[in-house]
Amino acid sequence: MALSTQPYKGARDFYPEDKRLQKYMFDKLRQVAERYGYEEYDAPILESLELYLAKSGAEIVNEQTYTFTDRGGREVVIRPEMTPSVSRMVAAKRQELSYPLRWYSLPNLWRYERPQRGRLREHWQLNVDVFGLAGSEAELELIQMANAIYKSFGAKPAMYEIRLNSRRLMDYILREYLGLNEVEAFSLAKLIDRMHKLDRSEFIALADAICSASEREAGVVEKLLTVLDTKTLQTLPADLREHDSVAALNGLLVALADSGVTNVRFDITIMRGFDYYTDIVFEVVDLHPDNNRAMMGGGRYDGLVGLFGVEPVPTVGFGLGDVTLANFIELHNLLPKLTSETDVYVATIGDITAGATHAIGELREMGLNVAVGLAGRKLVDHFKIADKKKIHYVVIIGAQELADEQFTLKNLSTTESEKHSLQRIVSIVKDYRETNRKH
Ligand code: HAM
Repeated sequence: MALSTQPYKGARDFYPEDKRLQKYMFDKLRQVAERYGYEEYDAPILESLELYLAKSGAEIVNEQTYTFTDRGGREVVIRPEMTPSVSRMVAAKRQELSYPLRWYSLPNLWRYERPQRGRLREHWQLNVDVFGLAGSEAELELIQMANAIYKSFGAKPAMYEIRLNSRRLMDYILREYLGLNEVEAFSLAKLIDRMHKLDRSEFIALADAICSASEREAGVVEKLLTVLDTKTLQTLPADLREHDSVAALNGLLVALADSGVTNVRFDITIMRGFDYYTDIVFEVVDLHPDNNRAMMGGGRYDGLVGLFGVEPVPTVGFGLGDVTLANFIELHNLLPKLTSETDVYVATIGDITAGATHAIGELREMGLNVAVGLAGRKLVDHFKIADKKKIHYVVIIGAQELADEQFTLKNLSTTESEKHSLQRIVSIVKDYRETNRKH
């Protein structure tokens, strides 16, 4: 049997066209993160298993990690997320770093998932984290940045929604308001996290199974459902409205609205999967019916750095994935025409002479990216190939052109041809590049 040409299940090959889209997305993500004063960092793709056992949560560690034993007998994980790694890095230099630290990265991550639309086994994720800000200015900055990211791709507020909740509020509801014990509260929190994947009767049956008989009889599940049906902070039951986490959520919603972020709302069902979140959590959801899932998720996790035996650092961060972002761009028709990195394709007439080689060298020295077509091809074939490769210009070089020092520059989208010196060609092509490549 012949060898398969397919990549590993749930992972992607990036042919130049796919890589071009990825580069377009990553350039924008980097630009916006840097505009907010964030610095790029990175870490190894392999980490020790212990790092995730500490706080990521059982689901990710037991079901979703690629874990293996290395030749030295150490249990190793291919990183499923970046948050434990960045916390480890901050803890390692806790004393030397100047706070607030604003860091970002664009790691590839591996999770053993059932591949489906929007969910793969390997994905890339913009990670943005701010360390050392205990106040809500951190959440405000990160949510503003996330919003700026979607705007930078041309998104309109009606295309996506930012949803906020508070882990502190949820803990209070489960433990104090409903009076559940720690184990029940933990299981119900996980169930609420999966709520959107279940119908109401399934949810009720599972919630019933988590509660004790006396709790069921006392109407705990009905009380929970009433709370989960609440759509605004103002309509929460009066006992809950008093909780200080509600004031914090309200303050953040008001500050976001004041700064022009309007497509944001409180959503009591946002739990987020990871155990390390301690307070405000948020997600950005694509509102397109064919991609109706979270594209970004994050929150405050004040306890992770402290797990490494150093003084804790208040931290807020988010992760924004490439797969759901690409779906978003595509479904909302936001994808610009992406051209090749190659500026000109050289079509030589006859053999490639020393003169032609020299002219090609000059184009490169003057800063153009130049690919050279196969000698002996017909001009129309050169045009076809250049067009297929999404190269905008062809430069024709033959004996006559070299003698006159005037070369034909063909614009493949207008199909117009003009004769110019090499210098003039370079300046025309650079002008085009300036206006068209900076999307
Ligand atoms: P997360 O919610 O697991 O959070 O992932 C964040 C985003 O990454 C998701 O909204 C989604 O866009 C993308 N994503 C996650 N898993 C996959 C997958 N299997 N395939 C495609 N895309 C995926 C975290 O990972 C947190 N560590 C984020 C964070 C950073 N919190 C604080 N700082």
